[in-house]
Amino acid sequence: MKNIDIVIPVISAQYSELTPAQQHLVDEARAATLRSYAPYSRFNVGAAILLSDGTVVTGANQENAAFPSGTCAERTACYYAGANHPDARFETIAIAARGTDSLEVEHPISPCGACRQALLEYEKLAGHDVPVLLAGRDEIYILPSVKALMPLSFTEF
Ligand code: THU
Repeated sequence: MKNIDIVIPVISAQYSELTPAQQHLVDEARAATLRSYAPYSRFNVGAAILLSDGTVVTGANQENAAFPSGTCAERTACYYAGANHPDARFETIAIAARGTDSLEVEHPISPCGACRQALLEYEKLAGHDVPVLLAGRDEIYILPSVKALMPLSFTEF
């Protein structure tokens, strides 16, 4: 028997420390929060995905009176990308959120388990690590891959 310690590498950065391309993707994710439909939680999430053909697709959470029928921002974005750009591969993902006070969340939020699983599949299709930028108001977490967000993940059967 032995212990296995799993370490998740996270860089905490200021917006000004990002590359212009990373800043642009964070801007797109922040803008996408304004297209969220979240009358029930009043928590507005935006996701932006840079694709290999240079396109940036965005998504925002879409809620429904029948609560489980709603969809998170990340899955809205990744399924839109898959449905409309099936040959393009994911390059980078950015996620931002505004809380019930409608201000950008102070600390980065992280995708739910279902969204991690969905994004992981597109990372696998990309054939390379897909960095994830989690944007808060004052700091941005940079993760090297979706896999880093979901160690011991289920990827094949
Ligand atoms: N939500 C997302 O869109 N992405 C996340 O990563 C976490 C949660 C949405 C789901 C729901 O509409 C609202 O935020 C509150 O949970």
